[in-house]
Amino acid sequence: MSAPNEAPRAALVLGNWKMNGDAASAEALLAGLLAGARDIAGAAGVCPPYPYLGLAAARLAGSGIGWGAQDVSAFDDGAYTGEVSARMLADMGCTWALVGHSERRTLFGDTDAEVARKAARALAAGLVPVVCVGETLADREAGSTELVLARQIDAVCPVLREAGERCVLAYEPVWAIGTGLTASPAQAQAAHAFIRGRLAAGGVVAAPRLQVLYGGSVKPSNAVELFGQPDVDGGLIGGASLVAADFLAICRAAAGRA
Ligand code: PGA
Repeated sequence: MSAPNEAPRAALVLGNWKMNGDAASAEALLAGLLAGARDIAGAAGVCPPYPYLGLAAARLAGSGIGWGAQDVSAFDDGAYTGEVSARMLADMGCTWALVGHSERRTLFGDTDAEVARKAARALAAGLVPVVCVGETLADREAGSTELVLARQIDAVCPVLREAGERCVLAYEPVWAIGTGLTASPAQAQAAHAFIRGRLAAGGVVAAPRLQVLYGGSVKPSNAVELFGQPDVDGGLIGGASLVAADFLAICRAAAGRA
């Protein structure tokens, strides 16, 4: 929890479109977001698939809605077929790069060490890494949630120590992603407070000021309660970010949080 004299953290909501849609649906979604941009400017961003980053940049420039990437290479330039470097993402005007999303960790084998290298590349290119952490259902049922979060956080602390306030954390319990199951506000708050404390213990002095987002089946109907928790600073939104009206409603919930 932030200290009483800590300046309140600004809210942030990021939409993770994952590998969905095509140019036409991306165009329509961006148009829908632009229609409500005034309400959410400065507190929201979208992470489209790589091929649509240019489209997002063209449409969102000057709107106050930012954009970022869903991943970034752990390598610098070179013979890494299929990879996209942090520098390229910076060229596309990205503000953020997600690293360590659970789908990257479980489906593509991203390790804690790789996640840390990706975060370092993002920072070196001037991007804000959004470091995603979270436990599986088996971890939670085994009582290992904090153990898993600690391992994932400890791996990035050496990188984040150098980041100042230019990094974001996202707590995404794997069992809540795309399942319709959501962590209860109390479960989310406990995990967020743990993450913040672990970062501080790992020498990340900016920990009280870092945004820690919640992700996992956030919807307009549960956003207000989740974002009302003292250590929940906004959300990382998957499915609901593909529907402009829902994403805008979630953004407004974050902007108006207590
Ligand atoms: P969800 O995904 O909102 O569809 O659960 C969240 C995420 O994976 O970032």
